[in-house]
Amino acid sequence: MQVVVHRTGWLVPVIFVLGALGLGASYGVAARSNPHIATTPTSFVQVSSAIAPMSIAAFGPRTDLAKVQGADACGECHTREMEAWKRSTHFATWKTMHREPRAREIASALEIKGGIKRNDLCVNCHYTARVVDEKPKPVSGVSCESCHGAAADWINVHNDYGAGKTKETETPEHRAMRLKACDASGMLRPANVYLVARNCYSCHSVPNEKLVNIGGHKAGSAFELVSWSQGEVRHNYQYSSDQKNRTASLERKRVLYVVGAMTDLEYALRGMSKITERGAYRDAMRNRKNSAVKRIDEILSRVSLPEIQSLMSSLERDDKGRVKINRSLLNELPNQLAALSEQFVNTHDGSNLGPLDAIIPGPEKYHGTAQP
Ligand code: HEC
Ligand code: HEC
Ligand code: HEC
Ligand code: HEC
Repeated sequence: MQVVVHRTGWLVPVIFVLGALGLGASYGVAARSNPHIATTPTSFVQVSSAIAPMSIAAFGPRTDLAKVQGADACGECHTREMEAWKRSTHFATWKTMHREPRAREIASALEIKGGIKRNDLCVNCHYTARVVDEKPKPVSGVSCESCHGAAADWINVHNDYGAGKTKETETPEHRAMRLKACDASGMLRPANVYLVARNCYSCHSVPNEKLVNIGGHKAGSAFELVSWSQGEVRHNYQYSSDQKNRTASLERKRVLYVVGAMTDLEYALRGMSKITERGAYRDAMRNRKNSAVKRIDEILSRVSLPEIQSLMSSLERDDKGRVKINRSLLNELPNQLAALSEQFVNTHDGSNLGPLDAIIPGPEKYHGTAQP
């Protein structure tokens, strides 16, 4: 167990529970008879407990390091996805970030010794780590399992169509059971757009006031889900018969866009709940909140989404249309948004959201270049 306490007494609650190791070994099998398989994750709370059974990093994705297999384990089958990843910033950062003078400046402002790869706080968001020789160790840039979940419990489940069966002959019952088993064992599947979005935001918003105000770190990225996921990050090979890395369909992009805006607001509010002082952190989180609200307002002016509409109209506004925030709202609203995002994903395939196409960022806005 490793707990890092900063000199000034703020606790960096990064707790790697290494006891998990002993259990990890039998998990690939255990997932099949896991009683949780029958429960579909529906609420924020249920989902997060399914994802984070043993070790919870307060910053970055909730990855159980004892269950991380490493990108090479995925590359055995997913060769195209692997190639795409190897051309991304998430991959390249392993060789570049620790050499950045800014990384040293941030670390030294926070009196962190030993560099970005040696500090748990930084590692959570900058690298994928796993347990090596019983110790958590960063092993690459941001790789497969930082986005799809630590895989020990699902790697042998997610591609198992049943004895003697193939993708084509798998029974619908088996498929439903398989996907539920994957969800219950912490796999973040692309179908669960909200879980995917939330996971991006767990790194791309930075809910740590000291890191921002004292360290001078950015309070997050100007992150919009369509433009950030459809460029260099994109790897859509399985869904087309000709194995071309196409962008998500129009319908899926609409869903990504709405969920992205909702999650942006959710994470701005989660960040705001940690404000204790004036400064860059407070300003950035408030700005994120205001711009997310604008984006949601614009969505609601184009398409009818009654549940989201009713939440947004219940909020008090100032004369510039900015949502006024108080403590109790900060406690409730993020969870309400999370529940609405999940509900939205479960009830919309995007086909009736055409009026959003005019505002969804096009290819010229995509971050980085996707590989063919
Ligand atoms: C032994 C081969 C194999 C390995 C190893 C493997 N996969 Fe897969 N993966 C597959 C197959 C086959 C599918 C298609 C499953 C289906 O038809 O639903 C798949 C599907 C997926 C999907 C899409 C799921 C969905 O519902 O759309 C993701 C994401 C994924 N794999 C991630 C990973 C990651 C991450 C790793 C490494 C930790 C990994 N896979 C390792 C064979 C493999
Ligand atoms: C909550 C997640 C998170 C944590 C914790 C975190 N970072 Fe970052 N960091 C990011 C993200 C996301 C970016 C990319 C921001 C962007 O879009 O430009 C980034 C960018 C950076 C950059 C390049 C941008 C710049 O400011 O010049 C440096 C350097 C950096 N981080 C260092 C660190 C160090 C050192 C630590 C630990 C003390 C740390 N980070 C902790 C998420 C995080
Ligand atoms: C484990 C933390 C983590 C997760 C999860 C994560 N990112 Fe990142 N991402 C980073 C960091 C850190 C950087 C900055 C790396 C650098 O500058 O070297 C980055 C950089 C990027 C970049 C390149 C920078 C740019 O401005 O174009 C894109 C695009 C991106 N992320 C998209 C995504 C998307 C989309 C998701 C979710 C599907 C996601 N990221 C999930 C940590 C993460
Ligand atoms: C930055 C986060 C991120 C990383 C890193 C990442 N993925 Fe994904 N992956 C996604 C997202 C988001 C989607 C859904 C994309 C969409 O719908 O546009 C996806 C889709 C997939 C799919 C289904 C689509 C397809 O290509 O068949 C597979 C399989 C997959 N990922 C495997 C992997 C593997 C293997 C790696 C590592 C080599 C990896 N992913 C790394 C975010 C990520």
